[in-house]
Amino acid sequence: MSQYYSKLEAALKSVREVTDFVPRVAVVLGSGLGALADEVDDVAVIPYRNIEGFPLSTVEGHKGRLVLGYLMGTPVAVMQGRVHMYEGYSSKEVVMPTRLMHLLGAKILLLTNAAGGLDPDFSGGSLMLIRDHISSFVPSPLIGENVDELGTRFLDMSDVYSPYLGDIMLKCAEDLHIDLKEGIYCQFRGPQYETPAETRLIRMLGASAVGMSTAVEAIAARHCGMEVAGVTCITNMACGISNTKLTHEEVQEVAARVSHDFKSLVKEFISRLEE
Ligand code: HPA
Repeated sequence: MSQYYSKLEAALKSVREVTDFVPRVAVVLGSGLGALADEVDDVAVIPYRNIEGFPLSTVEGHKGRLVLGYLMGTPVAVMQGRVHMYEGYSSKEVVMPTRLMHLLGAKILLLTNAAGGLDPDFSGGSLMLIRDHISSFVPSPLIGENVDELGTRFLDMSDVYSPYLGDIMLKCAEDLHIDLKEGIYCQFRGPQYETPAETRLIRMLGASAVGMSTAVEAIAARHCGMEVAGVTCITNMACGISNTKLTHEEVQEVAARVSHDFKSLVKEFISRLEE
């Protein structure tokens, strides 16, 4: 067994010492979007620091706990906060929690994040369904010895974000009268925001939004066979498109402002997932 897999098993054991709860859907809550965890009818709440080997977040707005329980009657594992590469973690370390969600039993992973908008049709406060991503600016979490217990060496990347789940999300938005945009998410390493030249570069490449997470988690989730859905909260227009200076406080404020629509959308989505 690979050393990496043994570490994952140790993390699994930490959770299993607290609860034998098996989630069907795992949800990762991005910057400013953590309030959804309060809606979970919880069975167990485990601070990340109590999970052996779990990478710890240092970012304001990321609470750092795993909430296991029921949301709209569906067994869920909600990660209130994530770690990022800019905190000094490798992409392999960043996806350790994603892989733990798989070992806990989750079949579906819903990734959420805050990001800068590139598409002129977006504005601060827009919500965007992630249809595909560009991860070419960050190292793959699959680099190094393949973890055969999890998945294959050479991973197909045609439908990273499940078209089926995406269509359900769009239908939920339509029924709730939420204007859900669609687009391509590009991951940069950060922590600095993009320069106007970088914004132009990725716009030319076809990106609709830019952030500092998610794509590597989606890769790891597909590697171990989970179905992935992604929703981005466009907290600001990216540097160079907007002339106002970006701050993390603004990102958190805007995310909190759309939190109501975001929560309704995710809850509706989870309630519509068939067994
Ligand atoms: N760029 C990168 N990441 C972000 C942004 C942005 O403009 N807004 C929120 N996260």
